[in-house]
Amino acid sequence: MLNKSIKYILKNINNHGYEAYVVGGAVRNYLLGKDIADFDVTTNALPDYIEKLFEKTIPTGKKFGTITVLHDNNSYEITTFRSDGVYSDGRRPDSVSFLNELKEDLKRRDFTINAMCMDYDENIIDYFGGKEDLKNNIIKCIGNPDERFNEDALRMIRAVRFMTQLRFTIDEETRLSIIKNSHFIKAISIERIHDELNKILLSEKPSRGIRMLVNTGLIDYIIPEYLSSVGFNQHNPYHDKNVFEHVMEVLDNIEPKLNLRLAAFFHDISKPECFTQDENGRGHFYGHHIKSATVTKEIMRRLKYSNDLIEDVSILIRYHYLKEIDMKDKGVKRFINNVGIDRLDDMFALNIADIKGKSSTANFDKVEALRKKCNEIINNKEPLNRKDLDIDGNDLENLGIKKGKLYGELLDKALELVLEFPEKNNKEELTEYIMTLIK
Ligand code: CTP
Repeated sequence: MLNKSIKYILKNINNHGYEAYVVGGAVRNYLLGKDIADFDVTTNALPDYIEKLFEKTIPTGKKFGTITVLHDNNSYEITTFRSDGVYSDGRRPDSVSFLNELKEDLKRRDFTINAMCMDYDENIIDYFGGKEDLKNNIIKCIGNPDERFNEDALRMIRAVRFMTQLRFTIDEETRLSIIKNSHFIKAISIERIHDELNKILLSEKPSRGIRMLVNTGLIDYIIPEYLSSVGFNQHNPYHDKNVFEHVMEVLDNIEPKLNLRLAAFFHDISKPECFTQDENGRGHFYGHHIKSATVTKEIMRRLKYSNDLIEDVSILIRYHYLKEIDMKDKGVKRFINNVGIDRLDDMFALNIADIKGKSSTANFDKVEALRKKCNEIINNKEPLNRKDLDIDGNDLENLGIKKGKLYGELLDKALELVLEFPEKNNKEELTEYIMTLIK
């Protein structure tokens, strides 16, 4: 398991009379037969000493005992055995004390499966039953879960994330402790939460994690807007599930791309808000796609997603509901423009997953017909927007039209014509048309 490079690091520290072990995720993933992304090392050598032992180092978190060593084009985080002081900001200990004993270092870690280590000879050291919990598929805190979560509240979402990624269950005492301490998540920086949420959403079956965020109450502090959809009856014969169950189905059945998973996760967030019932008691959600897109933007901004991703996801949600799409060419072209050619595949993927998630008898002929129509228009290279017009501002200037707001209005009118009659997209006909407009 240990490659030449990490062996060199461990050996170099050992040769100078200190202990050194690979610890945490690398050992866990090795035992699970998974790929190892990076090797973290724990040692009783002090950070100053590590800096002397290796040629290229970065004092990444020296105050907390961590030095990054660069070797063979890789970087390794080497941390001195430590015990953590109070975590007053819920993120990092205010102070740490360095220790000489491995077991004490392992004791401060989050879960039993993350607290195993491996020495140079590849012997595994497991003081807290990590191997057994791995075998039984259990995420369990080391020692008292309340203490572990009070040290770093993010660990509560990490528990849900590991449970989802590994398809494990959370030990009951640990789960009850998350419920009790869930409010502490408020102290955690949004960036850290957002990273964990992404990992949950990108897992094979994200609904397991989302259900656990709901079950433990963590969602109340992260995305309180989500709560109203849980158990919300749609009173509609085209839906065989409540809003939350429908969303979970869509989420699990869409490709694991972050934009699609986020769009699936949020696509019906405003359904409860838009709910009305007609005289027959049938439920309707008029405008829910528009409202959900707006609310998603607000939530994603709060969760500090990038502007590009926010735009992408909100457009997907805005057009996830194709019921009212006008199938005439002009309408389809407008639709392509609004969604964006590059986003069409994702948009259809979301629509199909959404329809499949409604009921087993759902039919998506309409979506397929629209996809076909879009492809035809794109393959025929038909003009779609102002940029595709065979005239531009310079032509208007040459016609003696004064620069200003009128330019935009005239080009829009020309576009209207061309969307309906693509064959008229040539300078002569468009010039003639413009002249009739300004007469
Ligand atoms: N750790 C912890 N508490 C945290 C974060 C990390 O106790 N809030 C410890 C765990 O022992 C963990 C190790 O630090 O295994 C390394 O943390 P990290 O790199 O974040 O996680 P990995 O376990 O390596 O898993 P992944 O790479 O999937 O995040």
